[in-house]
Amino acid sequence: MIAVEDASVVFETRAGIFKSGQVHALDGVSIEIGVGETLALVGESGSGKTTLGRLTLRLVEPASGTVSFLGRDITHDREQSLGWFRQRAQIVFQDPFSSLNPYMRVWDLIEEPLQIDGVKRAGERRERANAALAAVDLIPTARFGSKYPSQMSGGQRQRVGIARALVRNPDYIVADEPVSMIDASSRIAILSLLAKLQQERGVSFAYITHDIASARYFSDRIAVLYQGTIVETGPVGTVIDHPLHPYTAALIAAIPEPDPANRHRRREVVPGEPSPSSTAPTHCPFYSRCPRRIPGTCDAARPALVEIEPKHEVACFLYSSASHTPAGTP
Ligand SMILES: Nc1ncnc2c1ncn2[C@@H]1O[C@H](COP(=O)(O)OP(=O)(O)OP(=O)(O)O)[C@@H](O)[C@H]1O
Ligand SMILES: [Mg+2]
Repeated sequence: MIAVEDASVVFETRAGIFKSGQVHALDGVSIEIGVGETLALVGESGSGKTTLGRLTLRLVEPASGTVSFLGRDITHDREQSLGWFRQRAQIVFQDPFSSLNPYMRVWDLIEEPLQIDGVKRAGERRERANAALAAVDLIPTARFGSKYPSQMSGGQRQRVGIARALVRNPDYIVADEPVSMIDASSRIAILSLLAKLQQERGVSFAYITHDIASARYFSDRIAVLYQGTIVETGPVGTVIDHPLHPYTAALIAAIPEPDPANRHRRREVVPGEPSPSSTAPTHCPFYSRCPRRIPGTCDAARPALVEIEPKHEVACFLYSSASHTPAGTP
């Protein structure tokens, strides 16, 4: 469905009035998501999850590397020629409060994408909007369709956001922290709804989350990002039960208590924090924080992703020798 190959994304930033700089948000990242497959993207704030999701939707253009959809290279396609892709690939946003226009009724919000796609008959648009409302369990559809977002709960609004994505019958959806801003009681219901779409419609997903526990429930594979690079990837159960990279192990050790009463107690993952780099690092990006770093090795070259067991890859010198570093690295 989606393939990203060796992609790097660089943002120009203004650090103060006179200085300007660059942030390497993604650095040599490759991912593939098959038909009907879900890939979870996890990692700390700023690790590049949203940028990678947006890259697969061609909402950002990479500085290098390629993005393909259904085998077609769309890396540098201009917006005018991406119409077919815009219909088939959708996004569900994190915040159901700011992502829906408060002055539009639910029907109009859901029919808007169809209008953009040139569906001329109002009756057909309404019919498809009602089908999308039913698919997200906002029933009776006439009651919810005529509401404004302000008349709905967070969970209901997120269902509208999902219906808006669904109305185009997409093949691929990027769900960027779709439940993190919803009250805890609706989270499971929304995740079950997404899982149903996965199973019944064969939609492929990139599922961006801080919540590794939910990734196990909702994903086939997982990719762990650290400072714009994938440090570990593999089948979700394998990675969570047998993490190899010290960073993944720390993320998993920090999974919050299952008891919701304790959830507010955020445990620190690993002391320290990632330092956003203005240049691509030439050594292991996790070196300064790693409890298992090997001086002389991990600070001398950058580890490449290496397959350790079937489909389970890790970029760490604990598992591979320095000879695996990419060509060009001394
Ligand atoms: N439009 C932008 N302009 C400049 N820098 C950006 C832009 N978007 C993202 N960045 C930077 O790129 C890096 C990756 O950001 P990104 O939003 O992809 O991280 P994230 O993993 O989604 O974080 P979070 O968990 O907080 O959502 C960060 O250092 C961020 O500050
Ligand atoms: Mg993000």
